[in-house]
Amino acid sequence: MILGIESSAHTFGAGIVDKGKILANEKAMYRIGTKGMIPSEVAEFHIENGKRVIEAALKNAKVKARDLEAISYTKGPGIGPCLSVGFLFAKVLSKELKVPLIPVNHAAAHYEIAKKEGSLKSPIGLYVSGGNSQIIKEDFESMTYRVLGETLDIGVGNMLDNFARAIGLNPAWGSSVEREAKNGRYVAMPYVVKGLEFSFTGILTSAKGKIGKYEKRDLCFSIQETAYSMLCEATERAMLLENKKELCVCGGVAQSKRLKEMLSLMCKEHGFKFGYARDEFNSDNGAMIALLGEELLESGYRFDEKSLDIKQKYRIDSAPLPMPRN
Ligand code: FE2
Repeated sequence: MILGIESSAHTFGAGIVDKGKILANEKAMYRIGTKGMIPSEVAEFHIENGKRVIEAALKNAKVKARDLEAISYTKGPGIGPCLSVGFLFAKVLSKELKVPLIPVNHAAAHYEIAKKEGSLKSPIGLYVSGGNSQIIKEDFESMTYRVLGETLDIGVGNMLDNFARAIGLNPAWGSSVEREAKNGRYVAMPYVVKGLEFSFTGILTSAKGKIGKYEKRDLCFSIQETAYSMLCEATERAMLLENKKELCVCGGVAQSKRLKEMLSLMCKEHGFKFGYARDEFNSDNGAMIALLGEELLESGYRFDEKSLDIKQKYRIDSAPLPMPRN
């Protein structure tokens, strides 16, 4: 039985997993508002809410803290002060309970929970969130993940949220843009895909320059359609080049119905299997940190004092890969 703590950005999450089964998934979410995320304020929020969220997870899972066999936490990537709070909660608990502490890569945790919930074996992963947009796969030779392609500038979620703020909508990983986009008409936007890589700043600049000249819903519809089409094209190419038959989409933006609809159409055409996690597990959460933490522990990984820290720019291609579960 393992407790996972997530605190890389606006969410403080605590999840409890036992042999791959999610027993609890509790979270507290800082409201971003129009100013964006102020790291010290979000960290303060995590300090205030952390204990309550962890206790709620234990209560919901009907387990006592002393039943926990390990604690995992998000090592990175993420916002430094926010990561530090989760790490401290995890460290104190692991010392008190005398159980191992497992550092987890946030992106890998998103991928692994989508893989599990989507009943997939070893899919290509399209990881889309605020700060990240990457096409990833498992590499069992190096026992790490490989990034096949990624954004050359900003993450797709931040692009959508930046535009949402510019037109007075609440930023929420693209969901406010998706709501506004209903019944919109297409306005041409820059479309930038280079092989397996893509870029989103051109769309943002172009769309911001068109504010006032077109209806809000037309601009929302157009940036969403263009950005998601770019992701679909690069992902489709990665699937074919890697000769893979399974795809999962994960991360905060994977909650988008439109993105899943487009990816599922592409998969249908090729006969690919397509899967993803429920929304609760696509937004940041502690259960995914517990799940991957348990898989790493079961795979025989042990972590020394030196690796028990936080790393704001912890890339998935330097994170350990768990052994496949039977
Ligand atoms: Fe995330």
